Amino acid sequence: MIILDGKKTSQEIRNEIAEEVKTISAKGGKKPHLAAVLVGNNGASITYVNAKIRDCEEVGYTSSLIKLSETISEKELLQEVAKLNADEDVDGFIVQLPLPKHIDEQKVIMAINPEKDVDGFHPENLGKMALNLPSYLPATPMGIMDLLDRYNVETGGKHCVVVGRSHIVGLPASILMGRNSYPGNATVTLTHSRTTNLKELLQDADMIIAALGKPNFITADMVKEGVVIIDVGTTRVVDKSKKSGHRLVGDVDFKEVSKKAGFITPVPGGVGPMTRVSLLKNTLMAVRKKL
Ligand code: GUN
Repeated sequence: MIILDGKKTSQEIRNEIAEEVKTISAKGGKKPHLAAVLVGNNGASITYVNAKIRDCEEVGYTSSLIKLSETISEKELLQEVAKLNADEDVDGFIVQLPLPKHIDEQKVIMAINPEKDVDGFHPENLGKMALNLPSYLPATPMGIMDLLDRYNVETGGKHCVVVGRSHIVGLPASILMGRNSYPGNATVTLTHSRTTNLKELLQDADMIIAALGKPNFITADMVKEGVVIIDVGTTRVVDKSKKSGHRLVGDVDFKEVSKKAGFITPVPGGVGPMTRVSLLKNTLMAVRKKL
């Protein structure tokens, strides 16, 4: 069994990015600039956005954090998006999700200039991704692809079962795994809450991408020997022994499933850090397009 070490791999990619930023600066180019919009006081969102800003500093990017009130109207938020679209210094930006219930997320995503949509959530980028055209890829699926690539995991002709069809992870991951490229060329089954024979499908899978958000949902009896496990789950469970008062638990029972797996991502330290570095990669791509 080989651990797909996202912490180590993402650090390697970060180092490569930091080198490229230095090269751009040495040639007199401007530092990449990522802006993040945070609406309200969602604890997880605050943690994620702060981490994204820290990541920027670490590789030498400029970053801006735009904090907005929970009660901001949809119209005002759309005005903020328009400002960022027009700001020539900002290479790319994200609006952290979820947004408060009174705001239509899709409308906000659609308002982002696709050329600055470093989350890869705009339909133009998702459409290009489906057609195998250059585009910003959503961060988590891109992180998964990079991890498979860096460990030379064979995917062609394999049966890949994706669990969960979210627009951010499951759906785009299923498209990428089915594309005619590497990693990809897999035979993909996209499963979701209405799937009736999930256990059967999982038992046939050569690779499982678990993104359903149910801690320890996938157990050893559901997988076959040699399976490649990509665990996207990060559910916070209360753990008084931790300083933070909680720990992250994946969708896969790591202790037992790892005994059967060929490759497996840990939680934490697997997909999470890869996701963070993907945003940096997309922001660099936004800058490259202008060089
Ligand atoms: N919420 C959870 N993941 C993400 C992400 O990758 N981007 C944004 N904008 N919001 C998120």
